[in-house]
Amino acid sequence: MPTDTAPGAAAASGRPAASGVSPAPGVSAAELREAMGHFATGVTVITSVDEDGQPVGTTANAVTSLSLDPPLVLVCFDLGSVTLRAIRGHGAFVVNVLAAPQQHLSRNFARRGFAAAWDGVRHRRGPTGSPRLEDVLAVLECTVEHSLPGGDHEIIVGRVQHAETSAAPGAPLVFFRGTYASLCA
Ligand SMILES: Cc1cc2nc3c(=O)[nH]c(=O)nc-3n(C[C@H](O)[C@H](O)[C@H](O)COP(=O)(O)O)c2cc1C
Repeated sequence: MPTDTAPGAAAASGRPAASGVSPAPGVSAAELREAMGHFATGVTVITSVDEDGQPVGTTANAVTSLSLDPPLVLVCFDLGSVTLRAIRGHGAFVVNVLAAPQQHLSRNFARRGFAAAWDGVRHRRGPTGSPRLEDVLAVLECTVEHSLPGGDHEIIVGRVQHAETSAAPGAPLVFFRGTYASLCA
């Protein structure tokens, strides 16, 4: 391919790419956050255990079902996450899917290393030792299968060892355009 028709060369010169596809101009963090904010998600609290055996957790919506066979999910963690550090050491975590009335849990677990987030939160240790929150819509107990780089985040692929859903599921907690939303809005 002649060098002056390579996408990189076109982008560098400011000309459209020869294929007619405009070169990607790149987006700012604010633009990406704004655009992805239109992708409505559920909200989870990812829990694990730190090196002192204390429970840790973080609110997360970058959570995706990855594979049915084997059963895999993935979670994307900010590289500075205290919970990520604990998961690397413990090798296991729980995905706790929040219900609509659990907005307070989402807010508390979105505070870095905030041990008081656990005050009054009913939970029990599952088979892998990570805390399972009571009264959530679903729990997926995972062991770490892979860890992959993802820019300023780390992608943790978890193998689902146990999955349970609430016997009386209510409405989910939803996050949309930077705020909590109702499915019925
Ligand atoms: C709705 C919502 C979704 C979030 N999703 C993620 C996420 O997917 N990954 C992440 O690293 N942080 C996410 N955060 C931010 C973390 O919860 C926040 O940085 C927290 O302080 C990290 O705690 P830790 O450092 O104790 O683990 C989210 C926050 C909110 C409110």
